[in-house]
Amino acid sequence: MVNGNEIISLVGQRQDIEQFRKKHWVGTFEEYLDIVRQHPEVTRNAYQRVYDMILSAGVERYEVAREPRVHYKFFDDPWGNGHDAIYGLDEALETFVNALKSAAKGYGIERRVLLLHGPVGSSKSTIARQLKKGLERYSATDEGALYTLGFVSLDNPEVVHWCPMNGEPLQLIPKRFRRDIEAMLNEGRGPDEFRVKIEGELCPFTRYIYNERLHLYNGDWTRVVKDVRVKRLLLSEKDRVGIGTFQPKDEKNQDSTELTGDINFRKIAEYGSDSDPRAFNFDGEFNIANRGIIEFVEVLKLDVAFLYDLLGASQEHRIKPKKFAQTDIDEVILGHTNEPEYRRLQNNEFMEALRDRTVKIDIPYVTKLSEEIKIYERDYNPERVHKHIAPHTLEMAAMWAVLTRLEEPKNAGLTLLQKLKLYNGKSLPGFTEENVKELREEAVNEGMHGISPRYVQDKISNALVAHSDATCINPFMVLNELEAGLKHHSLINDEATRQRYRELLGVVKEEYENIVKNEVQRAIAADEDALARLCANYIDNVKAYTQHEKVKNKFTGQYEEPDERLMRSIEEKIDIAESRKDDFRREIMNYIGALSIDGRKFDYKTNERLHRALELKLFEDQKDTIKLTSLISNVVDADTQAKIDVVKARLIRDFGYNEESATDVLNYVASIFARGDAKE
Ligand SMILES: Nc1ncnc2c1ncn2[C@@H]1O[C@H](COP(=O)(O)OP(=O)(O)O)[C@@H](O)[C@H]1O
Ligand SMILES: [Mg+2]
Repeated sequence: MVNGNEIISLVGQRQDIEQFRKKHWVGTFEEYLDIVRQHPEVTRNAYQRVYDMILSAGVERYEVAREPRVHYKFFDDPWGNGHDAIYGLDEALETFVNALKSAAKGYGIERRVLLLHGPVGSSKSTIARQLKKGLERYSATDEGALYTLGFVSLDNPEVVHWCPMNGEPLQLIPKRFRRDIEAMLNEGRGPDEFRVKIEGELCPFTRYIYNERLHLYNGDWTRVVKDVRVKRLLLSEKDRVGIGTFQPKDEKNQDSTELTGDINFRKIAEYGSDSDPRAFNFDGEFNIANRGIIEFVEVLKLDVAFLYDLLGASQEHRIKPKKFAQTDIDEVILGHTNEPEYRRLQNNEFMEALRDRTVKIDIPYVTKLSEEIKIYERDYNPERVHKHIAPHTLEMAAMWAVLTRLEEPKNAGLTLLQKLKLYNGKSLPGFTEENVKELREEAVNEGMHGISPRYVQDKISNALVAHSDATCINPFMVLNELEAGLKHHSLINDEATRQRYRELLGVVKEEYENIVKNEVQRAIAADEDALARLCANYIDNVKAYTQHEKVKNKFTGQYEEPDERLMRSIEEKIDIAESRKDDFRREIMNYIGALSIDGRKFDYKTNERLHRALELKLFEDQKDTIKLTSLISNVVDADTQAKIDVVKARLIRDFGYNEESATDVLNYVASIFARGDAKE
């Protein structure tokens, strides 16, 4: 057993003292200028830093329908072990990152509020959280480092009055010298390289001390900066450094001091005036978020007066703390709003002003099934729920959620489910990638309404709780919860929508039936020896047929006509029409011929269609010997039970079932077949 000392020394070995030293470095202004000469990026503004942070996680480029696409790995949440990863929103995120890029380059977007807009639960808060967390981490790396300043106290050289707004040290340089100093700092740098640009003025507090010292030293700036200390700025939401969040409370209680700081009444007595910056707390959300990012949660719920402040702040990069002049800020301003809220205010007059000064970025729901599934797999995987989740459980919930978001295709020949499959990358005869793109384009509002992932997450949780003594949960448990919840769903207020969502649950159940029927069929037919024998038999006959020969009967040794019934019974399984059978058979023989020239043998598994046809044929032949439907009656003889156990074992091996879920699904499929038999 390890002892305490060993545990401590493990941490001792892994800790990075060098890194700690760097992060907690404190130096002089002169030393800071040397840092800036070597690493000018430390002076990046907030938009530049956030944009570089996103790029620093890496970029993947790919194509969809011959159009280039980008995936920013930053949104995979690589440093949070993926727990906050965003799935399936590459397009929206690309638009967002492009806006940041343009703001970073100073093309004007930096003067607008970035407004994430979308339906409830489309991951807007998650995106904001990722940016804030990311910035905390990035500011602590060498690449993302930034610095701020303070003045050594005259009374006690151990004490530094740090800038309450985390100001950039270069702001100490008087305006009239800035051009020349920028030129010196940028000397030797090419036009494509990052160039230092000194922007903004010191905050009122730091400016006050600066002026005081200037006086003290008879206007000698070189002596003033000797009193300056510079330190690394480690952004942290918890410590209220460089990261702010503003959440509207009820309308009456909104007070501008929450944004721009407040008078410190206790200190007024000490300093004698309420306009002395030392008697003011620069701790409003805008103040503390300087150099980083400020998030406005549900921004349209803000009082209108506040909104104008906000728009002003973003346009001017300035705020107005009570009693003080305009104060410069450098921070990314990010707001989000839910689509119903946005719609409610659409015709409001101040929305005009808002539209002009915001960049609205739509964050829709996911419309690609495989991506939606990932959202649920992250939270509900066997490790986290300590339970077996039957195959297709999360898939069916996700399928329903996506179906509720899709717009009915204009093409009458296409069902909603088929459209979902096309979006999911499945190919359907007669549909090219180009057509799929057109489908997306014709459905303008797709993904902006429907069921939210949060609703589905809640219902999966309910199912887990309701069946907490079961060792496994299955799709029906979840689908039933999804249906039951519709009655009380707060966001659905018309009966027609509710009805439509119920019908879509029906579509999903039908699809589930097809999927499991297919799996059970394949499990029954997954007898490789039998398949190989059937295949050899089929090929012998096809060969004889195409070459107008006879087939040797293995028992009798007699030569017989090719077995047309056998061949057709296989081909019909995959809808090869009588008129197409010659072509099909010839294709197969050509393929086998080509293989044998290379000295290779034919393997039916390489031909997906033939494989499927053989499986279905074998299933048909074996179905009756397995007597699946006898499962319904509960009286199963030993021989049948043995066969059923083999099938169950294959379901477990090939399709991810466990004992219990395999039993369930066999019973379920047996009941479907029993129904089918009864119909016949
Ligand atoms: N595209 C997505 N990828 C990953 N998770 C998502 C996605 N969309 C929604 N979620 C999940 O749904 C839940 C709601 O997201 P949230 O960010 O709170 O939404 P919003 O702020 O838009 O209402 C969260 O658990 C989130 O992780
Ligand atoms: Mg939210």
